[in-house]
Amino acid sequence: MKRLLDVLREDLRLTGTKEGCGEGECGSCSVRMNGELVNSCLVPVLQAEGARIKTVEGLATKGELHPLQKAFLNCGGAQCGICTPGMLMAATQLLAINPHPSMADIREGLAGNLCRCTGFIRIFESVIAAVALDKGHSAEQAAGAR
Ligand code: FES
Ligand code: FES
Repeated sequence: MKRLLDVLREDLRLTGTKEGCGEGECGSCSVRMNGELVNSCLVPVLQAEGARIKTVEGLATKGELHPLQKAFLNCGGAQCGICTPGMLMAATQLLAINPHPSMADIREGLAGNLCRCTGFIRIFESVIAAVALDKGHSAEQAAGAR
């Protein structure tokens, strides 16, 4: 009955996932479980048996930050860092479903995640910047493949 959050942080030492409220209100502990966004503080680990879990540690590939991580750094979307992993996972979820979100879509997609430091505008702008960064990256890849 241990919480998924505790297994990630204490047993697996994946401390990127943060605990804020511990009761499903803040989204700091968000991870993706079988492609769905969940609050890991509310998931008994037995419910995760056999599931594919993605945490913030899984966003960077081959030592390169994910476009969302780069954009959060560049646009001031991250300060104390407590909410940031959850925001990143919620934004990843959003972009998986909707690769070209409007500002309204971003607000809705991140509505379950609270930030006490930056206010939300820089976070929303970071997601917009990440979409632009990703488009540029894809265009570069396409040009390289030609
Ligand atoms: S710590 Fe899980 S939602 Fe706040
Ligand atoms: S950066 Fe501190 S809570 Fe969001």
